[in-house]
Amino acid sequence: MNKKPGALRFLLLASTMVVPLALAAQDGADLFRQNCAPCHAEKGAGAAGLAPPLQNAELWRVLGEDSAYYLLAVMRGGLSGRIRSQGLDYIGLAMPPQAHVKPEEMQEIARYVLETLNGAKANVSFALLAEVAKASPSHKELRSARNGKPGLSSKVASK
Ligand code: HEC
Repeated sequence: MNKKPGALRFLLLASTMVVPLALAAQDGADLFRQNCAPCHAEKGAGAAGLAPPLQNAELWRVLGEDSAYYLLAVMRGGLSGRIRSQGLDYIGLAMPPQAHVKPEEMQEIARYVLETLNGAKANVSFALLAEVAKASPSHKELRSARNGKPGLSSKVASK
């Protein structure tokens, strides 16, 4: 008996909804392992040609104060278009929006990526996530920011 993938996904979704307490107890590392590591590898080490490393001091140094905003925006809206990371080009593979990851889980993941994996500051909050949702920066704007154009959060928020 074959279940349609759509139905299976619904069942999985439904089963996670009846155990919100168990989910709430999950920390950023677990959430990262489940949602991000399949592409970005354990601890965000990256998978050459598939998904860029998230353990990347240079990326977060360039993004600076926009780091948390960028990370939340990529999780929320995905990312497409050519990017260059640690000397490698990532072409043609898009990151899908992580619509199944809940807002509070995104915050846990963002803290894990910035603080634990990169030792960077993580100014993550519901308010910031709401700002990101409202502005919905384009993939082009996100790529410009990661390539060094400053002011991502202030620019898109004031649009
Ligand atoms: C299905 C595979 C896949 C999953 C799952 C995935 N990503 Fe990605 N991610 C990608 C790809 C592919 C790119 C590069 C997109 C491009 O080349 O434009 C990317 C890019 C990124 C970037 C930009 C990195 C940079 O160098 O600018 C961040 C940040 C990111 N992902 C975070 C996450 C987080 C956090 C999660 C888990 C919530 C996640 N991703 C889940 C495939 C994935």
